[in-house]
Amino acid sequence: MATTSNDSTKPAPAKKTMDELIAELHTRRTETKAGGGEARHEKQHAQGKMTARERVEGLVDKESFEEFGLFARHRQTKFGMLTKAAPSDGVVTGAASIDGRLIHLASQDFSVLGGSAGEVHSLKVADAMHRSLKTGSPFVFINDSGGARVQEGIDSLSGYGQVFHSNVLLSGAVPQISLICGPCAGGAAYSPALTDFIIQTRKAQMFITGPQVIKQVTGEDITAEELGGADSHMAHSGVVHFVAEDDEDALHICRRLLSFLPSNNLEGAPYVPGDENVDPNPELNKIVPVDPKVGYDVRQVIAGIVDRGDFLEVQAGHAPNMVIGFARILGNTIGIIANQPAVLAGAINNQAANKAARFIRFCNAFNLPMVTMVDVPGYLPGVEQEYNGIIRNGAKLLFAYSAATVPMIQLILRKSYGGAHVAMCSRDIAADCVFAWPTAEIAVMGAEGAVEIVFRKEMQEAEDKVSRRAELIQEYRDAFASPYVAAGRRLVDDIIEPADTRKHLARALEYLKNKRDQRPPKKHGLIPL
Ligand code: HXC
Repeated sequence: MATTSNDSTKPAPAKKTMDELIAELHTRRTETKAGGGEARHEKQHAQGKMTARERVEGLVDKESFEEFGLFARHRQTKFGMLTKAAPSDGVVTGAASIDGRLIHLASQDFSVLGGSAGEVHSLKVADAMHRSLKTGSPFVFINDSGGARVQEGIDSLSGYGQVFHSNVLLSGAVPQISLICGPCAGGAAYSPALTDFIIQTRKAQMFITGPQVIKQVTGEDITAEELGGADSHMAHSGVVHFVAEDDEDALHICRRLLSFLPSNNLEGAPYVPGDENVDPNPELNKIVPVDPKVGYDVRQVIAGIVDRGDFLEVQAGHAPNMVIGFARILGNTIGIIANQPAVLAGAINNQAANKAARFIRFCNAFNLPMVTMVDVPGYLPGVEQEYNGIIRNGAKLLFAYSAATVPMIQLILRKSYGGAHVAMCSRDIAADCVFAWPTAEIAVMGAEGAVEIVFRKEMQEAEDKVSRRAELIQEYRDAFASPYVAAGRRLVDDIIEPADTRKHLARALEYLKNKRDQRPPKKHGLIPL
C-alpha cells in the first residue's frame, strides 16, 4: 500500500505550550481592546468625548463588566474590508452591574470604522438585548456611530432591522435606555427612538437627514447643532428625555435613572430607605396662592412631599407646562405627573399631552404607582393646537390613564376644570384615591367663562353690568368651584391640609400596593397615535 505522503518522515510542527497559548490570548485581548488605536482615541478625547470602553467602565460597578463577543469579526471581503482590522466589529457588548443590579449593554466604538453598524456589529447588539430579555435586566445602548456600514450594504440594513425588532420585543418587559454620545444619523436614530429614555450629550447630534441633505431638498439652512443637538431635541421634537453636558454627565444620569426603575416588568423598583418622616410640612401650606390666577412652581410642592425632596424630572425642557418624573415616598418609587401653573397657567397643549401620556404608559408597564397633581385651567385653546391634533393628543392622556392598572392617586391642588379635570387622572377614569387641598376648584370650566355662557343675556340686560357679572361669577364659584361640592358627590375622597399631604399619600400608597385590576382579554387597545 502506498504511503499517503512523506509527512511521517517530517517532524510534526511543535504544538504551542500552554504558556504560549495563554500569552497569545493576552496579546490578542490587549490588541483587540485597543480598538481603533491611540491616535483615534486621542481624537475622541480632543472632542471632549470618552472612548467606548471608557464609557462602559464609567457606567458600571467596578470590575463587574463581563464582555461577550470581543473577538467577533465581520464577514465582508470587498471594498478593502478583508484586511481592514475592525476590533470587536466596532461595538463593545456584555453584562455588568450598576449599584449591584444586573444590566446588559452595548457601546459603539467610533474609533473602529466610525462605529458604523455592520451585520456582525448589529447582531452583537441584538444578542445583548436578548440576554437582557432572558435575564430580566435593563438594556443600555451607548450610541456613537456613522450609521449603517456602507461597505456591507444590505447586510448592515438587515442588522439594523434585527436591532429594531429586538427593541420592540424588549419594550414593556425590561427598561431600555439610549445614550447618544456621538453621531446618530439616519436610520440609526430609530433604535434610540424605540427605547424608553434617551439621554443625549451636548457633544452629539441626532437626525434622520443632515443639514446638507436638507439644504439640497428644501433649501433650508441649518447647522447640525441647531437641527439635531440635545437642546433642540429637548425643546422642539421631544425626542430626548435628558440633556447631558458630556459623557460623564450622561453616565451619571443613566445610573440615577436606573436607581428609580425596576429591572423588569415582573419586579418592583428598588426600595431605598432613609426618609421615614411623615410629620406635617408647614411649608406646603404656603406655596399655592389662593388666587387661581397667580402662578407658582409646582416643583416646590413635589419637593415638599417626596423623600428628601429628591425628584428626577424627565423632559424638563420640553412642554414645561406639564411636569413629569420619578421620586420616592417612604423608599418606594412613584411616577409624578403634574400641571405646571408657572407655564401657560398649566394648560394642556399637544406637547404636554403627548409627554404625559407616554410617561403614564411607562409607569404602568413597569408597575410604578402614579401620583397626579392637578392645577389646570383646561386644554390650551388655539388654531395651532386644533390643527396639530389636540383632540387626538388629548385623547392619549385619557387613554393612557384609563388603560393603566397600577395604583393611582389624584391630588387636586387648585384649579381642575373641564375636560382637563377628567383627563388628569380623575376618579372616573383612573384614580383609586382622590385628595383635594382646600384651595381646590373643581368645575366644568372657570367661573368667568361659565357666566359668559350661562348668563350672557342676563348680564346684557343688567343695569350695572360689571357688578352683576361679578355677582354671578361669585355665585357660580360658590356653587361648583370648591372641593366640598366634589367631595359631596364622592369625586374627592378627602380634603386635606397641604402640610399633611405626604402622610396621606404614604398611607394610600401602602393600602393600594396589592391593587388588582382585571381587564377584558384582547390583543391590544388602540391608543390614538
Ligand atoms: C463606514 C464609516 C461610516 C459608515 C464613518 N465611517 N461613517 N465607515 N460606514 N457609515 C468611517 C469613515 O470612513 C472614517 O474612516 C471613520 O469612520 C471616521 O469618520 P470621519 O468622517 O473621519 O469622522 P468625522 O469627521 O468625525 O465625521 C463623522 C460623521 C461622518 C459625521 C459620522 O463620518 C459621516 O458623515 N459618516 C457617514 C454618515 C452617513 O451618511 N451615514 C448613513 C449611512 S446609511 P477612516 O478609515 O477614513 O478613518 C444609514 C441608513 C440606516 O445609516 C438605515 C437603517 C434602517
